[in-house]
Amino acid sequence: MRRAKISIIGAGNVGATCAHWAAAKELGDIVLLDIPDKEGVAKGKAIDLWCCGPIERFDARIQGTSDYKDIADSDVVVITAGLPRKPGMSRDDLIQTNVKIVKSVSEQVKQHAPNSVVIVVSNPLDAMVYTAWKATGFPTNRILGQAGCLDVARFRAFIAEKIGCSIEDVVALLLGGHGDDMVPLPRYTSVHGIPVAQLLPKEVLDACVERAKVGGGEIVKLMGTSAYYAPASGTIQMVEAIVKDKKRILPCAAYCNKEFGIGGYFVGVPCVLGSGGMEKVIEVELQGEEQTLMNESISHVKDLVKVVSDLFPELA
Ligand code: NAI
Ligand code: 2OP
Repeated sequence: MRRAKISIIGAGNVGATCAHWAAAKELGDIVLLDIPDKEGVAKGKAIDLWCCGPIERFDARIQGTSDYKDIADSDVVVITAGLPRKPGMSRDDLIQTNVKIVKSVSEQVKQHAPNSVVIVVSNPLDAMVYTAWKATGFPTNRILGQAGCLDVARFRAFIAEKIGCSIEDVVALLLGGHGDDMVPLPRYTSVHGIPVAQLLPKEVLDACVERAKVGGGEIVKLMGTSAYYAPASGTIQMVEAIVKDKKRILPCAAYCNKEFGIGGYFVGVPCVLGSGGMEKVIEVELQGEEQTLMNESISHVKDLVKVVSDLFPELA
């Protein structure tokens, strides 16, 4: 049986860590691609990781390259190419630089891996997913963005810490764009089936919501660059669902038209992931304040997409 092929564009912090998680989980063969100036870095990281196989007991070919021909026949392509933010920057401040990078990478993906499912990670996430969609012309089920798996994992970790329980027992839902206006939903959050509001006082729960919203910025302030372990872990959770056709329900930036009344944008929503990529968006009922926050987050995504189409009218 043919192994899955996973290509990761950008061999920096997030890209290399994606390769690490994918290899450790033995999800398939991996190609790690960067620009020609960084080809040595991509190749060196690939060899280094490959040599973990005998210790960690995974069989995977891991190839570093700067040649897009090497991504041919990929089942999944993960795009992490682009600048990360520095302290004091918002994700939106990256748009001018990253839209050019994601556009050019997507054009290469279209040419060399035309049947792949694409998962975009580069920021500002929701606008970069839109860019990849327009630049590849792929059907919307084969274009996704990773943000929700990370954001909800942070929310779950903060709740588990406050309760003093295993993070495995916290199940949560989070919607919206990957900005500080993302929408964690305590009403849809439970701990082994027990609504979280029965286990934590409102002010503690509110603090977990706020910390999840600015969780990325908290790490940027500490490290001087953005997070990569959990972002890569969230990305590979999506890759695993696709290459194993698991039909997992995960929060992803997915194309929504009628769903949630979004009207043709990629926004974080729960969806079913399987071999077809994004197989279905799951709609949930939102109440007054939840809907207001979701509307604000959607409106922010629309503003960012407008910046993309103002810069590149051909992407409109
Ligand atoms: P990094 O600077 O460590 O790595 C980025 C890599 O992309 C570099 O190796 C660079 O050479 C490469 N690159 C640049 N232009 C390229 C091109 N045209 N083709 C191929 N490779 C190219 O940055 P890091 O920390 O890996 O972050 C990558 C992106 O992911 C950033 O935009 C960051 O904001 C975003 N991010 C998104 C998250 C999410 O949850 N969606 C979470 C964390 C980071
Ligand atoms: C994060 O949330 C920067 O988007 C990245 O860590």
